[in-house]
Amino acid sequence: MNRDLLALHQPLHVFEESLFENIVEDLVNKGFSIQKNGLPDFILNALATCQETLHHKEYKTAGIGRADDFQHVSEVRGDTICWITGSSQEGALWLAWCDALKLYINRTLFMGLFSFESHFACYEPGKFYKRHVDAFRGQSNRVLSLVAYLNEDWQPDDGGELILYRDEEDIRGISVTPQLGTFVVFLSEQFPHEVLPAVRPRHSVAGWFRVNGSVNDNIDPPK
Ligand code: OGA
Ligand code: MN
Repeated sequence: MNRDLLALHQPLHVFEESLFENIVEDLVNKGFSIQKNGLPDFILNALATCQETLHHKEYKTAGIGRADDFQHVSEVRGDTICWITGSSQEGALWLAWCDALKLYINRTLFMGLFSFESHFACYEPGKFYKRHVDAFRGQSNRVLSLVAYLNEDWQPDDGGELILYRDEEDIRGISVTPQLGTFVVFLSEQFPHEVLPAVRPRHSVAGWFRVNGSVNDNIDPPK
């Protein structure tokens, strides 16, 4: 087992407590948390290795909602995505770290987070994702969104900012530079957001924590 994986088997407080504490405090006070340079190095390295070894053809055009109408999708979002299954050691490390965050949030906020799904995303120059919410109240079991950025030396001219709106009425929003090491966590049902057109290729990892929406024989999420 390598050192990074070993680190993950240490008690949580050894390496994460203050970061996770900070996120929880932000979630309580504001419903979102922006952590500039917040990703621990071993997670950043794992994600960067994973992303660099992904071949172009492993990325697929992203859809919207559960029933996709691909003709209209490109007017809304232009990224390509690749789901993280945990089959590589690095992917598994990322999922384990997110699981540690999930546990911490459940222990402190009783959010009842149940599962996590996550993908790499790439926005080629000119691509964007129009204003949207990740989950409609009562319609989906995505409750907490997480986006992490993998772009070294991102400049103001490079575009591609995430704009996080405080509510439906907000049209100004908060701008987040998709700089390497920055990550954002926010309540999925509460914050509309968009990705402005990128000028150079923009790499990120998006993920969603879900609650268990199973009713009778309908198992949701499926795993
Ligand atoms: C998404 C999303 C934001 C970003 O994938 O749903 O809103 O900054 N991503 O990449
Ligand atoms: Mn989104």
